[in-house]
Amino acid sequence: MRLAVIGCGYVGLVTGSCLAEAGHDVVATDNDQARIQTLNAGRLPIHEPGLDGVMERARAAGRLRFTGNCAEAVGAAEAIFICVGTPPLESGEADLSAIDNVARQIAALRSPKLVIEKSTVPAQTGQQLRRALNVYGRDAGGAIFRVASNPEFLREGTAIGDFFHPDRIVIGVEDQESERQLREIYRPILEGRFHCPVHQPSCPAGRAPAFLVTTIASAELIKHASNSFLGLKIAYANVLADLCERLGGDVEEVTRAMGMDPRIGPQFLNAGLGFGGFCLPKDIQAFNRLAERNGVDFTLLKETERINKGRIDQLMEKVRKALWVVKEKKIGVLGLAFKPNTDDVRFAPAIEVVRRLQAERAVVRATDPVAIEKARAVLPGVEFIEDPYRVALGADALLLLTEWADYRQLDWKRICKEMARPLVIDARNALSPSEMRALGFEYDSFGRPELSAKPTLVTA
Ligand code: UGA
Repeated sequence: MRLAVIGCGYVGLVTGSCLAEAGHDVVATDNDQARIQTLNAGRLPIHEPGLDGVMERARAAGRLRFTGNCAEAVGAAEAIFICVGTPPLESGEADLSAIDNVARQIAALRSPKLVIEKSTVPAQTGQQLRRALNVYGRDAGGAIFRVASNPEFLREGTAIGDFFHPDRIVIGVEDQESERQLREIYRPILEGRFHCPVHQPSCPAGRAPAFLVTTIASAELIKHASNSFLGLKIAYANVLADLCERLGGDVEEVTRAMGMDPRIGPQFLNAGLGFGGFCLPKDIQAFNRLAERNGVDFTLLKETERINKGRIDQLMEKVRKALWVVKEKKIGVLGLAFKPNTDDVRFAPAIEVVRRLQAERAVVRATDPVAIEKARAVLPGVEFIEDPYRVALGADALLLLTEWADYRQLDWKRICKEMARPLVIDARNALSPSEMRALGFEYDSFGRPELSAKPTLVTA
């Protein structure tokens, strides 16, 4: 099918490239002309494992094109995916001006199309979008548009695998023709008819994704409800970690046992520095504002936000407690991205931690396997060094803020010798407390206090 993707950010690029890989003809557009030039030169503006290969193959096969001309992209398309950003306004609500803009451009066309919201939007945006398309279209003497919602559940860092092997594909529609078209678009994924870029030579046997057809409002709610629940789960684990520190428990033992109950599940119970990125924090805020606006008390989400913001304070407390005076201390930072396998530093807890350290006049040196360039743009006054050993050399403390696998593999024995004071605060519970202490480190993490007699969790 001929498809257009509007917005070449992370969601648009993954969606466009993967749909092209699955056999559709995709033209993607963005109003950022520099971004289009970069893409046309075969370069990626973001770091997403596997995306370069998928994009390259789709372009070489002539199934994926980029253009700065929106009318050209949408003109020949049968269905249009809106993947533009919906950043937070001061109020915490989502800024939908990019969607409104796009509606105006699509409406200028005079042929009926299916317009699919993929950007994360508050419930009822679909209704507004349909109204806007038809009002702007009437002015332009255009056609009637159909609207659908198709939220994405892609995680940065594993987005390609998530696209081809989703748990569920959710489509919110108002008519059978839209449902038929969306089924057609996702048929290769539903039937496993695609060249999987993640699994070679073949994908492991697994369940086919569920295909859920809902109302547009439900589809919009499913996205916000899912992200908010994930944030809530993390916040819960973080409060447990605090309790473990006071009572002498180990949060990993507690959450591991909890997660074995299928009603709870093991994921998103890792305690530490809390959640960041461009999705969870802003979606929780927007969902909460939406509830407030509609007279529903969702204090639970406000608490989730409060607990999450408090993680940075907790870490700073640990730093102060360990160093006594922070001013002029040399502090090394391992990890800047909001999570491993991405160069995204938007709303990254690590960035806020570095700002706080700077505010207390510490001397900060920082590293990250891929996010240095993006961090440099938002953190003046920090010395960025690629080599983690050089970050540790002569440091008074080392803070592990993003749990990159590389950091677990470091030669910690060497680092222990080369630091001015072998103090590690592991804000992601990535390292083993007993191993670190055995190497000679003063070591702290979240919810894993030093215990004299530690019971072991025995599995059958
Ligand atoms: C999130 C959702 O997981 C996706 O399903 C969704 O599609 C996406 O937002 C989106 O709305 O586009 P993402 O932002 O890529 O994906 O990141 P997550 O894997 O959800 O992690 C978010 C944050 O939570 C990270 O900072 C991570 O370090 C933190 N986290 C995660 C924890 O602190 N503990 C955990 O147990 C899990």
